[in-house]
Amino acid sequence: MTVVLYGATGYTGQLVTEELVARAVPFVLGGRREQALRALSASRGNGAEIRIASVDDPASMRALMDGCDVVINCAGPFSLAGETVVAAAVDTATHYIDSTGEQPYMQAVFERHGPAAERAGVALVPAMAFDYVPGDCIARLAAAELEPLRELRLYYAVSGFGATRGTLRSSLEMLKGGDIVYEDGDWAPAPSYVAPERFEFPAPLGLKSVSKYPSGEIVTVPRHTQTRKVTARITSETFVPSPRLAGAMPYMTPVISAALRTPLRGVLHRAINRLPEGPELEQRRSAAFTVVAVAHAGDGRTRQGVVRGSDVYGFTSVSLVRAAELMSAPGYSAKGALGPAAAFDPAAFLDLLAGHGVSWELESLGAAASPAAF
Ligand SMILES: NC(=O)c1ccc[n+]([C@@H]2O[C@H](COP(=O)([O-])OP(=O)(O)OC[C@H]3O[C@@H](n4cnc5c(N)ncnc54)[C@H](OP(=O)(O)O)[C@@H]3O)[C@@H](O)[C@H]2O)c1
Repeated sequence: MTVVLYGATGYTGQLVTEELVARAVPFVLGGRREQALRALSASRGNGAEIRIASVDDPASMRALMDGCDVVINCAGPFSLAGETVVAAAVDTATHYIDSTGEQPYMQAVFERHGPAAERAGVALVPAMAFDYVPGDCIARLAAAELEPLRELRLYYAVSGFGATRGTLRSSLEMLKGGDIVYEDGDWAPAPSYVAPERFEFPAPLGLKSVSKYPSGEIVTVPRHTQTRKVTARITSETFVPSPRLAGAMPYMTPVISAALRTPLRGVLHRAINRLPEGPELEQRRSAAFTVVAVAHAGDGRTRQGVVRGSDVYGFTSVSLVRAAELMSAPGYSAKGALGPAAAFDPAAFLDLLAGHGVSWELESLGAAASPAAF
């Protein structure tokens, strides 16, 4: 079993490198900068082999994967750098997982590369990170035995996660727009404005203002679960800590999206480059997340699933390495583009993360609960 990690020199790539060493997984470090890869191999990578590959050179990307069972891709923004890596994975029959949170990129992986991956007998699993392993897995578990669903609703409460520069760059790409919704059994362009809502999260969080979230479950859930609609919301205070401004978040999103198609985008990218690389360990551990999936059956039955945890970036590195281990084990037979819950047993995968402080539960709610309007 050999795993190749591309984008190894970034904040997330370095955490994944440490996790590969901790799990004693044989691996190769890949990226575009030789000096940085050599330094990483010596400092944190246990002297692992390094390979240079560029997203502008498909042959170098195929050579990167030579002799490897799985590629873990942490080179983002993925909408700018991802597709050459996916195409090389299909061409070389290498299983592919990544740390993307970018919904349009995920849809591109499914639509443009999924059929070829199926023919090649390899699995492509984008978003095998904090985005969107908890949400996709708990959505699948909440829906079980209630299908076909009228709607599957996801609610994220995330606090104190201290975004890395890479996450901020990818968020800018997402905020430009191009996101989709899943309604009436099909995908369609998302409206830029969504009316404000509140949702009662399980204690101790309680009632929170929630905003539109262009999450990846909108891409993955309809492909493994029978539902007419998938909706995702996130606590407004995740992005805007002031309660008064948080209430205004739904109105601000279209304005931000329009502004990001102007020179302001370049200004913001330069500002991000001056920020620290990402959160220190202590700050990472103070992050907290609760992801709720509410499955509404056509006959009125409702079931809610909840996943809780902390340390979003630590979660990501553990999830990617556990997934790579499972994919390279004898007997792994999934193929094509898949969501996390289709690529792996969702309950067993969440249980694998228990050692990293992840817990989950399901409860039947009986009659349908609707989000509260302002
Ligand atoms: N959603 C989640 O749960 C989650 C969690 C963690 C990370 N992520 C995502 O993962 C990505 C990486 O995050 P990060 O914090 O590690 O970012 P980062 O510290 O900025 O690292 C980015 C990595 O990507 C590489 N890269 C960027 N553009 C490239 C290109 N055109 N060609 C080749 N390599 C390229 C960089 O290489 P150089 O070092 O050579 O510049 C670096 O290795 C981001 O998209 C982030 O949003 C998502």
